[in-house]
Amino acid sequence: MHPTLVSILALPIGQALATKHNLFSGFFSGSQLYGLQFDDEAATLSLTKNITTSISASDGSKWIAIDDRHKTIYVTAGSSYLSYSINTDLTLTQTSNITIPETCNNLNYIAPSSSAPYTVFGAPYSTGCAGQAISVTETGALDAILANITYDSNAGVHGLALSADNKFIYSADDKGNAIWVHSYDNTTVKEVQHISAPSDASPRHIAVHPQGRYAYVVFESANEIGVYSRDAETGMLSFTNTTYPLIPSGFTNGSAYWSDEVAFSVNTESAPKYLYASSRSRSASSPGYVAAFSLTETGAIREQLVLSETTGSGGAANSVSPAVFSEEYFAITDSESDFVEVWKLSAEEKAVGVVAHLDLDNGPANVVWYD
Ligand SMILES: *[C@@H]1O[C@H](CO)[C@@H](O)[C@H](O)[C@H]1NC(C)=O
Ligand SMILES: *[C@@H]1O[C@H](CO)[C@@H](O)[C@H](O)[C@H]1NC(C)=O
Ligand SMILES: *[C@@H]1O[C@H](CO)[C@@H](O)[C@H](O)[C@H]1NC(C)=O
Ligand SMILES: *[C@@H]1O[C@H](CO)[C@@H](O)[C@H](O)[C@H]1NC(C)=O
Ligand SMILES: *[C@@H]1O[C@H](CO)[C@@H](O)[C@H](O)[C@H]1NC(C)=O
Ligand SMILES: *[C@@H]1O[C@H](CO)[C@@H](O)[C@H](O)[C@H]1NC(C)=O
Repeated sequence: MHPTLVSILALPIGQALATKHNLFSGFFSGSQLYGLQFDDEAATLSLTKNITTSISASDGSKWIAIDDRHKTIYVTAGSSYLSYSINTDLTLTQTSNITIPETCNNLNYIAPSSSAPYTVFGAPYSTGCAGQAISVTETGALDAILANITYDSNAGVHGLALSADNKFIYSADDKGNAIWVHSYDNTTVKEVQHISAPSDASPRHIAVHPQGRYAYVVFESANEIGVYSRDAETGMLSFTNTTYPLIPSGFTNGSAYWSDEVAFSVNTESAPKYLYASSRSRSASSPGYVAAFSLTETGAIREQLVLSETTGSGGAANSVSPAVFSEEYFAITDSESDFVEVWKLSAEEKAVGVVAHLDLDNGPANVVWYD
């Protein structure tokens, strides 16, 4: 049992919870997408749907996203962007397949916008390749590539984020060690800024605070979160020179880790209470880490609450996915030992712990919460 599990489970639950919550999981390889269910009373996670798709097993579903209306799952698979409508019984039906040239394959990230016309943005993790802005039909099915998000010949974008008003696209350029800002106005994508990251940082994923004044970037190689301030009018970022660690201070073996994810807790008031982030260990026998930060109303980091070992190394994953029903819960995927876990934060105790664990027969990449 995880050392902090007992104290976390003993906490009074502060909010009325709906008991059962559904998630979908993608995988680094294989044709299946899984439906999972977390029972917050029983503290169990179970496999509820084994969904066969026409995705080739070698492509897998490297990144999946859910739209704001929770009608569609978007998937990156090799050189294709796919959309799946979510049926009432929580099975999935493929509604579209948009394929880009094979020279720019390895589609790796997809980010649906949160307001009409619900344009979806994606990018390949391929040197010198553009990202795409893709229109959708009324039902959320991918329709057509309406614009390219252009970078330079060194770029290799690993993660995208949108501003809350969907007017700016942020690209974490891992290979080019930079962040790109583009504006978007329903038809046109324009470059606004190219900002180099500190040397050997390797920006991997980025999260833009809903109120628009801060952006947080995972520096994959430096194993840190970089804090950027943001001009809400121009969308431009400035590095504040402030970073927070994603591996314990004093570790001199930073190259044995590769940091992974950063994401806000989900809150309807646009003032998320927490920021979660994670790192992966490159050794199967050493754990990765998960970090939690408390935020001010406007999105500044108040305090790093936690830097805690994860159950496994994370493999290529250790992706953190905040729950939609409570800001204290989040899921973690591990593709080394093939499991998904649900964790819970206690901000008061400055502790996190595993609430539920589910072993799988394949390596999960990331999960999305449906309810
Ligand atoms: C899911 O379905 C696939 C294809 O039928 C099968 O190979 C796999 O074993 C199933 N997984 C589980 C956990 O049942
Ligand atoms: C999407 O279309 C491409 C190109 O036709 C095809 O190779 C691929 O198998 C399709 N993927 C799915 C999941 O339908
Ligand atoms: C995007 O770029 C590709 C490759 O350069 C080009 O063929 C395509 O026409 C562009 N699409 C748009 C919508 O500009
Ligand atoms: C984009 O489209 C939406 C819905 O059609 C509309 O409400 C919005 O004003 C448009 N924005 C711009 C900048 O044209
Ligand atoms: C960050 O550090 C650089 C180099 O020392 C300096 O030029 C810049 O003003 C600093 N920025 C902030 C916001 O402190
Ligand atoms: C990194 O170094 C720390 C401290 O010596 C050690 O505990 C940890 O196992 C090492 N991590 C890896 C992945 O080798």
